[in-house]
Amino acid sequence: ETMNLISSLPSDVDFEGTKLFKYQGCWYNDKTLQAILSFQRDFEPQDTDIIVASFPKSGTTWLKALTVAVLERSKHSSDNHPLLLENPHTLVPFFELRLYMQSSKPDLTKISSSPRLFSTHVPFQTLKEGLKNSSCKIVYVCRNMKDVLISFWYFKCANQEIEKEKNSLESMFESFCTGVSYYGPFWEHILSYWTASLQYPKNVLFLKYEELKTEPHAQLKKLAEFLDCPFTLQEEESGSMEEILDLCSFSNLKNLEINKTGRTPGGVAHKNFYRKGEVGDSKNNLTPVMEKRLDMIIQEKFRGSDMKF
Ligand code: A3P
Repeated sequence: ETMNLISSLPSDVDFEGTKLFKYQGCWYNDKTLQAILSFQRDFEPQDTDIIVASFPKSGTTWLKALTVAVLERSKHSSDNHPLLLENPHTLVPFFELRLYMQSSKPDLTKISSSPRLFSTHVPFQTLKEGLKNSSCKIVYVCRNMKDVLISFWYFKCANQEIEKEKNSLESMFESFCTGVSYYGPFWEHILSYWTASLQYPKNVLFLKYEELKTEPHAQLKKLAEFLDCPFTLQEEESGSMEEILDLCSFSNLKNLEINKTGRTPGGVAHKNFYRKGEVGDSKNNLTPVMEKRLDMIIQEKFRGSDMKF
């Protein structure tokens, strides 16, 4: 039944040699789409669920770690913190890239976190109706398009263990610009959650990678308040926020044994989720012409919204 649906969708074979299908406005490969369809059909949200959402390569791993650290603070001694024992992607599993990809009916009673933590790269419109209207909390992180593109390119080359060649960047750049890329178009993704965050401010928190970098304290405070577990004055004074930011910092996460080894069930080496962790690295990889074209796309697509990068 799902195969019939998938084969009836608009499709394109252009993204990195993979056939993509357009579903509810975004492009997916068939495996991911099958998992999304199972998720939409079967997932039963609970009011306390927390969902970390993003476009791929926007800082998902970081936000997962921060969310776990905020919720789990003061529950553990320094050597048995969940982030030291498990990879952020195991602690906060993706609906469509892990749970519903491994099984069309995953056993969610095995989820041990309370509240339950999940994540997804699907745009807001594709989250199940029930989930949209429940009191679940969704935290979204966005990142500027240039750094996302470069991060994506490095990630792909690292996963496939291929050389980073100019040609492959050029073809990925074209895909990003036309919007026919895995989970693309980028701008529609961002705007779907941006609009939702304005419409449902209690349920959708919209964060930016760049702001997490420049004002980590303020953003962490916002995250904790949104998750209904604000930092107390005493916690603020005793350095609880610094502890969380240090624990989740790029260099700390990257160097944790648990993140240096092993692979996701999909075969991605955990270490590939930590590359450089900076803002503006795209400058070292894109030509001025490419940058200009991306600037124009951003300007055009976000015109009329008050979303600013
Ligand atoms: P770069 O490739 O630019 O270094 P995602 O988690 O959505 O897959 O995004 C991966 C990007 O986030 C990579 O960007 C990665 O290095 C960066 N990243 C991972 N952990 C981070 C952290 N703790 N702080 C900042 N950036 C982090």
